[in-house]
Amino acid sequence: MKDIQNIVILTGAGISAESGVATFRGPDGLWEGHRVEDVATPEAFARNSELVQNFYDQRRARLKTVHPNAAHKALAKLDAKWPGELLLVTQNVDDLHDRAGSTRLLHMHGELNSAWCLACDARSPFEGEMAEGPACPHCHQPGRLRPDIVWFGEMPYQMERIERALSRCDLFVSIGTSGAVYPAAGFVQTARYNGARTLEMNLDPSEGSFHFHESRMGRAGDLVPDWVEEVLSHGLC
Ligand code: APR
Repeated sequence: MKDIQNIVILTGAGISAESGVATFRGPDGLWEGHRVEDVATPEAFARNSELVQNFYDQRRARLKTVHPNAAHKALAKLDAKWPGELLLVTQNVDDLHDRAGSTRLLHMHGELNSAWCLACDARSPFEGEMAEGPACPHCHQPGRLRPDIVWFGEMPYQMERIERALSRCDLFVSIGTSGAVYPAAGFVQTARYNGARTLEMNLDPSEGSFHFHESRMGRAGDLVPDWVEEVLSHGLC
């Protein structure tokens, strides 16, 4: 097996499950009785902004009650110690990777704690309730903030940076994602096409499980710390 220098890690809702954040497609689905089209599309926001704002306000408030788990912490340790290139791409809009200490981190589907002003286009850190129609910290217009979340039909963030990292990585690792949503679900194929070794760690086989060289099934909180120790001690996956 060749030496590993450059690593790309993709995470999904499964890595935050043990912290108490509900996954999207599990039995305790995150949508809480809402159809995806009613809360996670630009059309839904145009139709009923109050419903959408309340939905994300509740999720933002819940962040204050959850904490990074062993898997988030292990990835932060890898980030701190890995001498080669590393990029952690998360689909999660929670801030658990940030709070665990990961820095080479990118939120491709946006962040709950960020607001996007539809009047001036600025993004700003945000912790309160958007349904109340607060003013934008930049242009001071009230009632024009939307959650800085990539909804269905919108383009994920920083795709060029992700594609560049995928084209250079020797190891691609996918953790806690069902592989149901593109473009993230296709990263394994891009990385593999470019010669990377590919590993998935998930509770159940993802939809694209057959694309990976290796699949480890179990809880992220158990699998990820062990894998991080392996990589740090051997430099191999
Ligand atoms: N450890 C590891 N994996 C787990 C755990 C756990 N403790 N608990 C659940 N899982 C797995 C599930 O088996 C499932 O395959 O995590 C996966 C979560 O899948 P989804 O709920 O579909 O979440 P995700 O893949 O992140 O969704 C992708 O879809 O709705 C959009 O934009 C949203 O970013 C999200 C995207």
